[in-house]
Amino acid sequence: MKVYITRKISPIAESLLKKEGYSVSVFKKDCAISKDELMKKSRDVDALISQVTDTVDAEVITNLKNCKVIAQAAVGVNNIDLSAARERGIIVTNTPDVLTDATADLAAALILSCARRIVEGDNYVREGKFDGWKPQLMLGMELRGKTLGIIGAGRIGQETAKRIKAFGVKIIYYNKSRKADFEKKTDAQKVSLKVLLKTSDIVSVHLPLKKETYRILNSDNLKLMRKGVVFVNTARGEVVEERALIKLIKSGHIFSAGFDVYENEPDVNKQLFKLKNVILLPHIGSGTVEARSKMAELAALNAIKVLNGKNPLTEVK
Ligand code: NAP
Ligand code: GLV
Repeated sequence: MKVYITRKISPIAESLLKKEGYSVSVFKKDCAISKDELMKKSRDVDALISQVTDTVDAEVITNLKNCKVIAQAAVGVNNIDLSAARERGIIVTNTPDVLTDATADLAAALILSCARRIVEGDNYVREGKFDGWKPQLMLGMELRGKTLGIIGAGRIGQETAKRIKAFGVKIIYYNKSRKADFEKKTDAQKVSLKVLLKTSDIVSVHLPLKKETYRILNSDNLKLMRKGVVFVNTARGEVVEERALIKLIKSGHIFSAGFDVYENEPDVNKQLFKLKNVILLPHIGSGTVEARSKMAELAALNAIKVLNGKNPLTEVK
């Protein structure tokens, strides 16, 4: 069996696959594999271990001659044409749960950092501007008594809410289905997207990118947000119309915004670099040693299960 891993990931993946006697190749460069190279390298593989940066579109999938499983080492699979894979009988798997805590920690960290101007304060001191305590210096938003709106109350959205609730924050959420267990644990209330945007002091985005969530937050509804809102996106950039968001940050309507993801990744809109009230992270939501190791392990185990004729652990349906 031949397996191709499109990026150097935790070595546990390679060692698990090799233990099965598979021939494993890894893309060696520290950058995203190009579509052309991916097509060349994956043509005759039995399993492909993919990353969020790979374009696994219909053309790439049609080019796969023997592939039984595409095991994505991530929870989001918006880079994979799922219907093309289904048509070809190729199973697609992802890595839910193992990265939930890491990503929720980061979302919570962005919320706190935006509310309390942590990065701005750090830059201020580094630039030698700190010349003593001042009563009006860099005042932020106090969390107690505020309302957090979770857009997409799945695994990561719920865990983010649980963390922020500990600061005395009320939780409301917008989601397709009602999450009764989440409501019981956090007193969260399910509301419409419009109500969430109108009543939240903090908005945190956790929706997967799909046709129906592409720019679900746009110039029409983003402006419904309260003046002085904190806005954080650790899901996918394309869920938000970035131009409209930037306009609201620039005008001061948004108090502070935290980005882990961008609409045209890895390109970041240059206007953001000029703004003090934004925090810009390089898509590191799941970036802990623990999570990345478990993601690599789970992706490998999914590939092994399928190649052994068994059901994978975490199939994307
Ligand atoms: P999840 O558990 O599947 O949660 C997604 C939630 O969104 C579900 O509750 C789902 O509702 C809801 N939803 C889906 N489509 C919707 C729609 N059209 N309208 C309203 N609600 C909708 O996924 P997760 O594990 O929390 O991950 C969420 C996303 O975070 C991933 O897809 C990925 O893009 C992103 N992510 C980013 C990083 C990073 O490094 N920054 C790391 C991990 C994940 P139902 O349950 O009712 O279907
Ligand atoms: C990361 O972005 C993921 O979807 O796991």
